[in-house]
Amino acid sequence: MGISIEKATTTRYNSIDWNNLGFGRFFSDHMFISRFENGHWDEGKIIPYGPICFEPSMMTLHYGQTIFEGLKAYFDVNGGVNLFRPDMNAKRMNKSADRLCIPRFNEEKFVEAIIELVKLDHKFVPKVYGQSLYIRPVCFGSSCVLGVHPASEYTFIIITSPVASYYPEGLNPVKILIEDQFVRAVRGGLGDSKTAANYAASLYAGQKAKEMGFSQVLWLDGIQHEFVDEVGAMNIMFVIDDVLITPPLYQGSILPGVTRDSVLCLAKEFGIKVQERSIKIQEVIQAYEKGTLQEVFGTGTAATISPVGVLYYHGKEMIINNNQIGPVAQKMYDTLTDIQYGKIKDIYNWIVHIDI
Ligand SMILES: Cc1ncc(COP(=O)(O)O)c(C=O)c1O
Repeated sequence: MGISIEKATTTRYNSIDWNNLGFGRFFSDHMFISRFENGHWDEGKIIPYGPICFEPSMMTLHYGQTIFEGLKAYFDVNGGVNLFRPDMNAKRMNKSADRLCIPRFNEEKFVEAIIELVKLDHKFVPKVYGQSLYIRPVCFGSSCVLGVHPASEYTFIIITSPVASYYPEGLNPVKILIEDQFVRAVRGGLGDSKTAANYAASLYAGQKAKEMGFSQVLWLDGIQHEFVDEVGAMNIMFVIDDVLITPPLYQGSILPGVTRDSVLCLAKEFGIKVQERSIKIQEVIQAYEKGTLQEVFGTGTAATISPVGVLYYHGKEMIINNNQIGPVAQKMYDTLTDIQYGKIKDIYNWIVHIDI
């Protein structure tokens, strides 16, 4: 048995402000839903997007047993729609599931459900370069009982949302506050899982940074506040003395980004020297003072590449590359987006093409 489809009888298409999409404000006509009960996942079905009904005792509301993913569908300039490395999201979702004691979801089914959903709602994939259909799989403990233990029932949902740029700045450099008081994740914690708790933990510092005029915070390690971790919704990369440096994954405190992995792969192809290693914030400051800090940029599905124009730490403002996007960030952005929109050949087999 495959995924059953119940089609919407009305469309949300005309209620979308297509000239002012923003990010995550509008949703397409359908969603995928699957439930885990009595020890197994059901076949799942696609139904009209709409409210879901739960009792107030639903476990995830209390104990936060929630994981999610984020990926995009892009219009292909040659026709059809492209997904970018959805298998990586399926794998990461299951890694998060293991950490949060959530039963694994079949990875092929994860991709199949997305393909079916995007096929059905393909008219919601914007035909504008830089815009896309954001895909949000989410899975949570949905038993309705109290008590701190893993739920026995789970709900897995995929919704989609036509989006423009995540940051109002677009590809213009963002201002980032280096956070030295609050922490997002500690080694041994949940940092490398895509779970709601990490985002809840980030809100207060993020809000404070916004009030001070910054787009996001750069998190330092949770113990010494010395080593760079990542940005709110992005991994971070530095170009120092022509070497691309990014914090390593093995400490478990940062999310293993799909974009991060893709950029590292491209960098090697472009002959750029890459170092995945711990980097102290003092090393970044010293490089800035010596004039060897050439570029700083974030990598993530939402923005693809987001150049950092200003880093602020202990009252000191570091202006990176004259507040302009640098050549490495630009090349990464151009190459990734050209692959995603089908403008250049995908030699890595990253694209899952959907004929419409
Ligand atoms: C905390 C965090 N780090 C990094 C990333 C970048 O990951 P990806 O490139 O898979 O979108 C994201 C976005 O999902 C994130 O939320």
